[in-house]
Amino acid sequence: MKLRTLLLSASLLSALATFPSTLCLAQAPVAQTPPMGWNSWNYFADKVTDKDIRGAADQLVATGMKDAGYIYVNIDDTWEGERDASGVLHTNSKFPDMKALADYVHSKGLKIGIYSGPGTKTCGGYAGSLGHEQQDADLYASWGFDYLKYDLCSFTPDVMEKQAPHDKAAQMKLMIAAYEKMSKALKAATAKTGRPIVFSLCQYGWDSPWEWAPELGGNSWRTTGDIEAHWQSIYDIVSQQSGLESYSGPGHWNDPDMLEVGNGKMSLAENRTHFTWWAILAAPLLAGNDLPNMKPEIKAILTNKDVIAINQDSLGKQGKRAYSDGEVEVWTRELQGGAKAIAIVNVGSDRTSNHPFHLNLEKAGLSGEATGKDLWTGKEVKLTNNMPIELDSHDVLLVRVDHAM
Ligand code: GLA
Repeated sequence: MKLRTLLLSASLLSALATFPSTLCLAQAPVAQTPPMGWNSWNYFADKVTDKDIRGAADQLVATGMKDAGYIYVNIDDTWEGERDASGVLHTNSKFPDMKALADYVHSKGLKIGIYSGPGTKTCGGYAGSLGHEQQDADLYASWGFDYLKYDLCSFTPDVMEKQAPHDKAAQMKLMIAAYEKMSKALKAATAKTGRPIVFSLCQYGWDSPWEWAPELGGNSWRTTGDIEAHWQSIYDIVSQQSGLESYSGPGHWNDPDMLEVGNGKMSLAENRTHFTWWAILAAPLLAGNDLPNMKPEIKAILTNKDVIAINQDSLGKQGKRAYSDGEVEVWTRELQGGAKAIAIVNVGSDRTSNHPFHLNLEKAGLSGEATGKDLWTGKEVKLTNNMPIELDSHDVLLVRVDHAM
């Protein structure tokens, strides 16, 4: 045998010997529509335990939320323990066995998510992934995780301000590189398992993540600071979304933060409007409420199939505020097949009868009268030019018009 052939055969044999571990498995694309699920932070915050996550998985199934599309059960911050001498991160006592927990969630036909950050510490002061990115990505993959929320927090003081003080451009480079590092680590880890991991960037919308996150493999990125369970917070967040529409699309979504539907003291109208906006904005729908004690009217909002269909529309085109008139805002979203969603929201604190509102069809993107479905009542509605629309404070009329003109 010639030397060259011999060498070739030897390298072929050695490649075959390592075949199972070096095999790159083809991965299904993720987040082709905005991810849907539940996350522990908005209700449990730092109190979340293994039992709560199992309970959430059980409830997603029992309430019909799973059937409505809520698939991811995401553990937020405060699961982390200490690193051992080899740098391997362990869980704390609230999460005795992550692999068993992931198996349990998977056994319900659901997927499971986890949380970390690029700094030394997470926002809650637990161990971050700095310097251990590949080790952590491999760990999540070995446990069977399907989703990672990666939260900036201590990376700012620990790395950006230390390594590049007062140099905004250099700080940005460091931050982007940190997210890219984890994105690559996840890709390497999942190439071995074949189980893709959704990569969700949490960086509060500082430094326009919509401009750089999609390129490095981000499936979503927070566009704002933390949401709170009251109208003002929801409205402030929504008011910051204009102009971001073009950055969002299948596989990569603007994320105005997790849902507060069912939390705090919001009225039913406010909960409906909050959910409507997240549908129009093509936002990830990550419920954050107390599932075992969910009221029927909250379940009805979260599982409204017509509204979810707006959120999950396959065109993947984020909607926008078309116009506002006094204290009424008209939001629109283009849907697959030429359909349209039109949301008319009374953002004021008075009923519109005190400040009459008349719909302007042209400004709402309709070229003529249209008949559609009121997605919160299920009734047919006819939209005509100048028609008066009466809404309670913070309430919404959401209409789907198929075959819009
Ligand atoms: C930040 C994030 C929140 C949550 C907490 C956890 O504040 O924005 O969504 O993850 O950290 O500590």
